[in-house]
Amino acid sequence: MAYYSSAFSAHSAVDLVGLNMRNTCVIVPAAGSGTRMGGSVPKQFILVGGIPILVRTLNAFASLPSISTIFLVIAEGHIPDAAEVVAEWNRQPGSKGRNKAVPEISIVAGGTERMHSVYNGLRNLPVECDWVMIHDAVRPFASARLIEAAREGARLSGACIAAIPATDTVKRGHDGVVLETLSRDEIWLVQTPQVFRKQIVVEAYEKAFAEGWTGTDDASFVERIGIPVAIVCGERTNIKVTTREDLEWAEWFLSSRIEKGRP
Ligand code: CTP
Ligand code: MG
Repeated sequence: MAYYSSAFSAHSAVDLVGLNMRNTCVIVPAAGSGTRMGGSVPKQFILVGGIPILVRTLNAFASLPSISTIFLVIAEGHIPDAAEVVAEWNRQPGSKGRNKAVPEISIVAGGTERMHSVYNGLRNLPVECDWVMIHDAVRPFASARLIEAAREGARLSGACIAAIPATDTVKRGHDGVVLETLSRDEIWLVQTPQVFRKQIVVEAYEKAFAEGWTGTDDASFVERIGIPVAIVCGERTNIKVTTREDLEWAEWFLSSRIEKGRP
């Protein structure tokens, strides 16, 4: 499997002007209920460092000239909350009117599982969109450098995911007993963003839905139709906020960033 270093993230005039990657749409699945987190508000609406996680995630895309539209996938019952978040986001400095490069946000209704939510996003893509980036609403700390690296990896290969090499030893087990120790060199812990040529990911999802196949990440659908998926090195700080401990970590991470003079 091809492995692209994040060194690919370096911007160049050729990259932005010649390669037509402005037609990249982002799907942000944000329709989960956060059962592992618990609490009355789905985790994407919880504040960290005083700002909703979802807004922090959207902010990661705010200044990237390659992104045209963000499709925010929201559970029906939370569409008014999301509309408020989007209105607030549009009022931020550097947003529409001040900077034409800031992407538009469209809200799309979510489904029962993440794959249904993403599929709804895919069905709403405009014809002029050539590339699709999928990024969890609850990964607020993906850097612009990582997003650009994944986009560049996809441009070179058609399909690319962010993932980090496993540092712990990984075993398979069943009923509390080890079955097998896996070769750590081949184990990657998968993150988002995941980026695909539109035809590839749409075909992969349509086939999976037609055949009743389920998967937990977007690349698994693409792998299933025989398309090689490249990897770019993700970031350990690009966590998926899942549990209360993750919230504590997020607060600590933000305060340590502020101490270092970064917002
Ligand atoms: N997601 C979604 N639609 C669903 C389920 C999940 O859009 N039906 C989104 C979540 O909102 C989240 C991302 O997919 O941004 C990753 O999912 P996960 O971390 O599992 O979030 P939840 O499903 O909300 O959490 P849990 O599994 O603990 O209930
Ligand atoms: Mg879930």
